[in-house]
This record gives sequence, C-alpha cells and structure tokens, in this order.
Amino acid sequence: MISLNIEKTLGFVSKETIAAFEPKVKAAQEMLEYGTGKGNDFLGWLHLPTSITQEHLTDLKETAKVLRENCEVVIVAGIGGSYLGARAVIEALSNSFTWLQDKKTAPVIIYAGHNISEDYLFELTEFLKDKKFGVINISKSGTTTETALAFRLLKKQCEDQRGKEMAKKVIVAITDAKKGAARITADQEGYKSYIIPDNVGGRFSVLTPVGLLPIAIAGFDIDKLIAGAVAMEKACGINVPFAENPAAQYAATRNALYQSGKKIEILVNFCPKLHYVNEWWKQLYGESEGKEHKGIFPAAVDFSTDLHSMGQWIQEGERTIFETVISVDKVNHKLEVPSDEANLDGLNYLAGKRIDEVNKMAELGTQLAHVDGGVPNMRIVIPSLDENSIGELLYFFEIACGISGYVLGVNPFDQPGVEAYKSNMFALLNKPGYEAESKAIQAKL
Ligand code: PA5
Repeated sequence: MISLNIEKTLGFVSKETIAAFEPKVKAAQEMLEYGTGKGNDFLGWLHLPTSITQEHLTDLKETAKVLRENCEVVIVAGIGGSYLGARAVIEALSNSFTWLQDKKTAPVIIYAGHNISEDYLFELTEFLKDKKFGVINISKSGTTTETALAFRLLKKQCEDQRGKEMAKKVIVAITDAKKGAARITADQEGYKSYIIPDNVGGRFSVLTPVGLLPIAIAGFDIDKLIAGAVAMEKACGINVPFAENPAAQYAATRNALYQSGKKIEILVNFCPKLHYVNEWWKQLYGESEGKEHKGIFPAAVDFSTDLHSMGQWIQEGERTIFETVISVDKVNHKLEVPSDEANLDGLNYLAGKRIDEVNKMAELGTQLAHVDGGVPNMRIVIPSLDENSIGELLYFFEIACGISGYVLGVNPFDQPGVEAYKSNMFALLNKPGYEAESKAIQAKL
C-alpha cells in the first residue's frame, strides 16, 4: 500500500503545528462524509470505489473490446478532468516505446480536444488518414469548445474513412445523462454512451467511465485499479485516526506549510511515466483550491530531467516552496550497469549496480540537498507502477484534496474562474448570444 512520510517537513513546521490541524481536518472530513460543506452536490466521487458494480465494469470491458478489435488508434477527445485522469493512468502503466513499435497488443491512445492548435489538429487528421481509428468523445457539459471542435473534425473523418455503420460502432460518448450537444449527438447517431454522474466533477471523474473506458481500451486492468482505490477509500476513511490516515496527514501538513509561508507545492517524480500523474494532480489541486485569492500553487517537475533546469531555482530560489515526491519502490524491469574494460567514461564504480539504485541515490541526494537548502519535503512511496498502486494514489489525492480544500476554507468542487476566458473568447468570436459582450470587448481592444 502507498505510504506518506512527512518527517522531512518537521524542521520547517513542528509536529505540534501539524497536530493542531486535527480538529479542522476532522471537521473537513465530516463535511465530506455528511455532505454539509460547500459544493456538497459534487461528492459522488467520495464513495465511488466501493460502490462500483461488477456489471458496470463488465459493460465497460465489453465496449473496450469492441474498440480494441476494430481500431488501431483510439482518440480520447476531452480537456481538463475529461482527459487528464485517463492519460495519467495510461502513461504511468504503458511501455514507453510500444507506440513506436509495429507489433501492438492494444490500440494506440492519442489525445485531442485539449488544445485549439490548427497544426496539432491538421497533423492528427493527416496521421489518421490510413488508420482504423475510433473516438471517445468525453465532455460532462457536452459543450466545451476545444473538445467539440476536435470531435466535429474526427467524427467526419471517421465516417468518411470507415463508413457510417463502422463509425457508429467505434465512436463512444461519455457525457451528461440529458443535456449538452454531446448527449444530443450520441442519442441521434446511436452511439454507445456512458453517463458522467451529476455529482462527480470533471477532475474527480477518473474512476468513472471518463477514465475507466480509455484505460481498459489501452489494455489495463480496471478491476485492479478499482481494487486499489477501494483499499485507499478504507485507509483514508473518516474513522481512521488522524495520525494513521495518510490523506488527513497530507492535508494537514500542506496546510501547515502554506500557513508558514510556503505558497508553492512542487510534485516531483523520478520516473518519466509519472509526468501525466503530475499534470492530473496539478489540475485537481489547482482548480480545487485556487480561489478567493487563496491556495497553494501546484507546480510539478520530472527529475532527473528538471534537476538540470528547475533544480537551480528549487535549490536556491525564493524560499516559498515545498516538495512532495512520488517515489516508486520497486521498478518493473531489471537492468544493470555493464562493466567496461577501458572505463573511458569512468563509470566502472557503478558496474553491477541496478540503474534503479543509481536513481534512488539521485532521489536521496536531491532530498537531502533540497532540505538543506530550505525546502520541506514529503514523500509518497508507491510499491510499484501497477494498476493497484495507481488506483490507491488517485483516490488518496482525491480525498486529500477534498479535505485540504475545506481546511483552507474554499469550495473545492467549483471552478468559477475558468469561465472568464471562455466568455471573452466567445465574445471575440461573435458567438450567438454574446452580442453585448462582443461590443464591450471590441471597445477594450
Ligand atoms: O474539473 C473540471 O470540472 C474541468 O476541468 C472540466 O473537466 C473541463 O473543463 C472539461 O469540461 P467538460 O467535461 O464539461 O468538457
């Protein structure tokens, strides 16, 4: 099971300061459990792992099978919470190079609808020209411009290339039960569709079909992913004492650090496969906590890569940061440093060592250096990169985020700030219904 170690924060905030958060954490846990806090109509994720039925998982696996059998490539069209969870899990579990190999055991998963880059979409449509591809159109509102635009292009191309009948088979919609253009299109075209529950917000939706379907199509075991989340739901439950509850400890420690002036949390990995877990976490915490002019700024780095760039800032820049490192205990493969008679590179002192041993020493050396440099450090150790551990990690971060947001005193489940750019963009594009805004914005230019 994953574990949290906060020892290397204690030189910066005292044990007592963290312990003093217990009543606030308890109150936050009760607000979540009894639905008495702000945003309480978005708590469907809280007991989601233990309420997922076997029938639901079987249905998802059957749909995944249809796409696996009929597609070389599957495009996940979505943005924010409607794609980051799937990408985080798929990239964490995938072989880094399979997508470049000719022989594949699962469709290649590609992402779209998360940008409006003409070049990206042109190159994607070019790439798909000779491919048997399918599309999962994911949007809770069903009206997000980035996603809708990509889906319009992909739907047409899929129908043109594969015929209407096959397109119907390989296009799936994951959206609201009733409202939005994605729902209307799915119903009219007769696509297989899944519902994003009303009470689950985008960034908490990875364990709904939003994440589970793409993950199953990519060939990963969604039963084990859910089993991991179930284990964490229990380990972080309201009745688990504060000192033994990793989500409570994480929420309390980061809030204690924030109060002491540490305004930025950097999520760190030493394994490039976790890059999109960082991205998913950034969205989860940034969108949940950054409001009312408050909130820890969630940043992320991939080490060793970023030790040779951001490492300088982290070691010696402004002392307003703390780090949370995700450390993978056991790697999945074995590779030793070979011995070399000439030893021209001077690396024979490492001969016979596992590469991971070198990586772990980089990790330890970095931790010691950063703590010495004034950066508090938490460590989340995950046993290995597999479905179980990733399921645990996802749920751990979700519940800790709910607790932490309530401790901070904000509504962790809304995102009013995301609307500002949309309204300006629609006004600039003269979207029907935005006439007054269009006039006002033109006057500003
Ligand atoms: O967490 C959220 O609610 C957001 O990041 C949404 O997931 C994102 O804006 C996409 O919205 P939608 O699923 O409605 O297209």
